[in-house]
Amino acid sequence: MNKLVINGGRRLSGSISVSGAKNAGLPVMAAAALCDDICIIDNLPYVKDIIIMGELLRCMGAEVSLSPNGRAVINPRGIKNVIPPEDLVAKMRASTYLMGILLGRFHEACVPPPGGCSIGARPIDQHLRGFEALGATVTEGEFLTLKAQKLVGNDVYLEASVGATINLILAATKAEGVTVIHGCAKEPHVVDVANFLNNMGASIRGAGTDTIRIRGVQHLRSASYTIIPDQIETGTWMIIAAATKGDIVIENCIPTHMEVVSDKLRKTGAEVIEGDDFLRVRCDGPLTATNIRTMVYPGFPTDLQQPMSAMLTVARGRSVITETIYEQRYRHLEEMRRMGAKVQVEDRLAFIDGVDKLYGRSVEATDLRAGAALIVAGLMAEGTTTISGVKYIDRGYERIEDKLTSVGADVRRI
Ligand code: EPZ
Repeated sequence: MNKLVINGGRRLSGSISVSGAKNAGLPVMAAAALCDDICIIDNLPYVKDIIIMGELLRCMGAEVSLSPNGRAVINPRGIKNVIPPEDLVAKMRASTYLMGILLGRFHEACVPPPGGCSIGARPIDQHLRGFEALGATVTEGEFLTLKAQKLVGNDVYLEASVGATINLILAATKAEGVTVIHGCAKEPHVVDVANFLNNMGASIRGAGTDTIRIRGVQHLRSASYTIIPDQIETGTWMIIAAATKGDIVIENCIPTHMEVVSDKLRKTGAEVIEGDDFLRVRCDGPLTATNIRTMVYPGFPTDLQQPMSAMLTVARGRSVITETIYEQRYRHLEEMRRMGAKVQVEDRLAFIDGVDKLYGRSVEATDLRAGAALIVAGLMAEGTTTISGVKYIDRGYERIEDKLTSVGADVRRI
């Protein structure tokens, strides 16, 4: 079992290049399974979840070559309507996308329930309601079974779910006629999936707004596509720069995706300089408390609440965090109490009273972004922090210890 050992208290500086977006790469790889020909996808992060998606597609009959340089070549011609292996499906949330592609391709899907980070209940009722609106019958049992005589475009009403929006886009791309999805998620990765599908010949308009209109097509042609930079990795480095009183240039990112995070960091006393494709974050003085309320895009992302709240444990004053998306996304703060953080969690609220110092301890990451938060904590703390549960961090951060070391962190994997 891997652990990360961090000797904290260093001011990090230098430059970091952001990897491709995991949460765009996963559905884009799945979308390639709807194509009739070979697709080449570049700038994928070489992280565990992406590797699992490659394995899942392979198990379903696709030829997938995925290389550590971030390129996947996917030949979906051999895909069959098989039940994807339960052990792989259970490993991540993004396996829900298999429903959309199997339904789109075969009008039929039988899939085990998806896994994913343990951060509270994560129902898929919106996905299922959407598939039903397109004509599928859903039977819930040990496996989820979806069947449609044919898929027919319809009006679908969602509540800004990223996964449901993407799943409906996938299925509706191969449905007959026009589907209008109302109440769509507007996250950058939703737009990326739509762009990829459009490159293959799909007709998807309005991605990035509340309403997406999809005219179904019968065939999708071969395409090459480059995934957008990871918004959450970018934000994690921004927070690390501020938390360590550092000065980091974050290269290969999209600053406009980060506006709400930049604003919040400025409120805490950090300086954020925006370039066309880079951000520079530096901080000299003490951090000041601020309140965070997680919201769907373009609000403050829930995936950055954990690293940000970790940082705020040493900000002067009281910060109030409101987690509106997930029920249990404060486990990192419970761990950080043992490092000296003064935190009170009440349901969806966390009250953080800034302390002068955190102390290195052995802590456990219980989900991906909790892992990122504990890295922030370990970098700020006096002494040595040992983080277990690194498998979660490896699901979404590529070569994390190499990148940290390159900006001056004292970190090693044992
Ligand atoms: C995606 O999860 C991301 N995962 C999550 O990132 C991210 O936290 C989340 O979007 C929100 O931005 C992937 O892209 C693989 P949702 P997803 O459907 O699609 C409720 C990370 O750390 N809901 O937008 O599962 C749900 O319970 C991960 O990288 C329903 O009630 O998120 C949640 O409260 C963690 N019914 C909210 O909506 C549904 O049918 C948002 O979920 C669907 C969702």
